[in-house]
Amino acid sequence: MRTLIIGNWKMHGSRASAGALAEACAGLLGHVVLCPPFTLLDVVAQALKSSSVALGAQDCHFAAQGAFTGDISAEMLKDAGCAYVILGHSERRGGWGETDAMVGMKATAAIEAGLIPVICIGETLEEKDAGKTLARVESQLRQSLPAAAMAENTVIAYEPVWAIGTGRTPTLEDIKTVHQHILDILVGIWHCSPAHCRVLYGGSVKAANAGEILAVPGVGGALVGGASLDAGEFAGIVSSVKVAHA
Ligand code: 13P
Repeated sequence: MRTLIIGNWKMHGSRASAGALAEACAGLLGHVVLCPPFTLLDVVAQALKSSSVALGAQDCHFAAQGAFTGDISAEMLKDAGCAYVILGHSERRGGWGETDAMVGMKATAAIEAGLIPVICIGETLEEKDAGKTLARVESQLRQSLPAAAMAENTVIAYEPVWAIGTGRTPTLEDIKTVHQHILDILVGIWHCSPAHCRVLYGGSVKAANAGEILAVPGVGGALVGGASLDAGEFAGIVSSVKVAHA
């Protein structure tokens, strides 16, 4: 399985800046996805038209359509050219009270619409300090993962909440332990080989640390926030995939 690098642009960018950033990323070689805000999906889709870089979004509603003011459905994202959708990011779980059950419903909607959900899980600093990382991650994973999810149509992203946007990352040993735990759970649920399960690491990934993180056994790629807004930094992360597997 090729290492997957996803850029989560969060709530950043204008049509002008997003178009320029997407054009700068369009030539990246590898398995790469850009996830701009909803209003910029169209301009990024245009920039990626003849590129192998795929398009993704940052959230969706669990219904296909209906009276849900302000929401966007998975089918709408598919129609806008998306192949992926990030779900259950800690900024949505924390900021908007998204529960595991809601994330699971959204993931079901994504899969039904033909999108690949990128389901985010991860412990808070409090949970880490209390030695509860593995238990927290396991409970989020089991309760967010819908029945329709399979190794072929779902990506998991392990993002420790305390590592997001802080410049802090877990030790490589800790990343390995958590990824191994997630893979063990997925293999138990999906009855597949761990080599077919994709688990990304996210949280303060940059060009300088991507090589060593991507080389950790069980890490199938990276979900990148801040560093994905800088074309040079993001290109450095994408090119470190080769270094990690050299
Ligand atoms: P940073 O890479 O900015 O730490 O953000 C990680 C993240 O939240 C990606 O979804």
